[in-house]
Amino acid sequence: MAALGQRLQVQPVRWLVTGSAGFIGSHLVETLLRLGQTVVGLDNFATGHRRNLDEVRSLVAPEQWLRHSFIEADIRDPDACREACHGVDFVLHQAALGSVPRSLANPQATNAANVDGFLNMLVAARDAGVKRFVYAASSSTYGDHEALPKVEDRIGRPLSPYAVTKLVNELYAEVFARCYAFPSIGLRYFNVFGARQDPEGAYAAVIPRWTRAMLLGGQVTINGDGETSRDFCFVDNAVQANLLAATTDDPAAVNQVYNVAVDDRTSLNRLFEILRDALAECRPEVRNLRPTYGDFRPGDVRHSQADIAKARRLLHYAPSHRLEEGVRASMAWYVSRFSVADGVC
Ligand SMILES: NC(=O)c1ccc[n+]([C@@H]2O[C@H](COP(=O)([O-])OP(=O)(O)OC[C@H]3O[C@@H](n4cnc5c(N)ncnc54)[C@H](O)[C@@H]3O)[C@@H](O)[C@H]2O)c1
Repeated sequence: MAALGQRLQVQPVRWLVTGSAGFIGSHLVETLLRLGQTVVGLDNFATGHRRNLDEVRSLVAPEQWLRHSFIEADIRDPDACREACHGVDFVLHQAALGSVPRSLANPQATNAANVDGFLNMLVAARDAGVKRFVYAASSSTYGDHEALPKVEDRIGRPLSPYAVTKLVNELYAEVFARCYAFPSIGLRYFNVFGARQDPEGAYAAVIPRWTRAMLLGGQVTINGDGETSRDFCFVDNAVQANLLAATTDDPAAVNQVYNVAVDDRTSLNRLFEILRDALAECRPEVRNLRPTYGDFRPGDVRHSQADIAKARRLLHYAPSHRLEEGVRASMAWYVSRFSVADGVC
């Protein structure tokens, strides 16, 4: 981050982070403000929360917070996108409706935010002449392609409406490069986790959902036999990839998509143990927890692991945290979030 900080101090820069009240977006805002940048955030609070922005405010210096402004708006509104992009150098586009099951339940809502909203943002960013448009792509784009690890140019057929929307994002970005010479970079995130990832609701991701259940004495249910595996990526790694992608001046690195993860694979059974053991350090009562097992979830891929050689080579991406390190860095947040009386970990 130090080298990145230096890169950013060369000239004043104005950033737009969409989805800034969400999990990854709020971390981008926090890091950029800490680096002395000027940040405009945009969100409609569909799945994000004001409390995430309040938390960022409490974590940065008052003079850093003064460089933050916020637009409550919906990316499905082209005028709002146009207004938000005005005078912006770099866009980090995170706003979307995540979750495979949500997209299976309501494909139109997912499409409206993730495809219509994405296109609105692309057009607005192109018209505003932004220097770089970095967007949240997804490992779901690998679909039914079974080879491991996943390499960027070998994808299969999408397994969910969500995966379709993320693939369409990449196609639009590619076409905008070809037709308008518009510079973008897509980051295929693989199961990002960390503080502020929403633990509530039917569509919560596995790490916050299980951590919450463990802390509140609920039951952890593993979908399937627990041997499903993922390349879990701590949020600091995703932040690093965004800043590198926005600021690279290597023409070969632009108009590309990159895997963002750590090139590792952890089964859900092992993840359960890692979370339980990390929590047990401050909550001994969770030490003997055991999971139950349910049905496999439709639309889920069986195994996922990223080849990150391309991001290493072209963006000089070097993940700072592996799964266990990221879990250790996140647990205090979950403990305090569920405010158990002696919740310091
Ligand atoms: N977290 C992961 O593991 C992961 C993996 C792959 C891809 N992604 C992608 O990364 C991005 C950020 O995900 P996240 O995990 O931070 O999710 P999140 O739900 O915490 O953040 C998304 C934010 O976008 C906002 N949003 C949604 N629809 C909007 C709209 N129409 N207008 C304005 N704002 C809107 C939400 O309110 C929310 O604050 C998303 O594009 C997601 O698809 C995430």
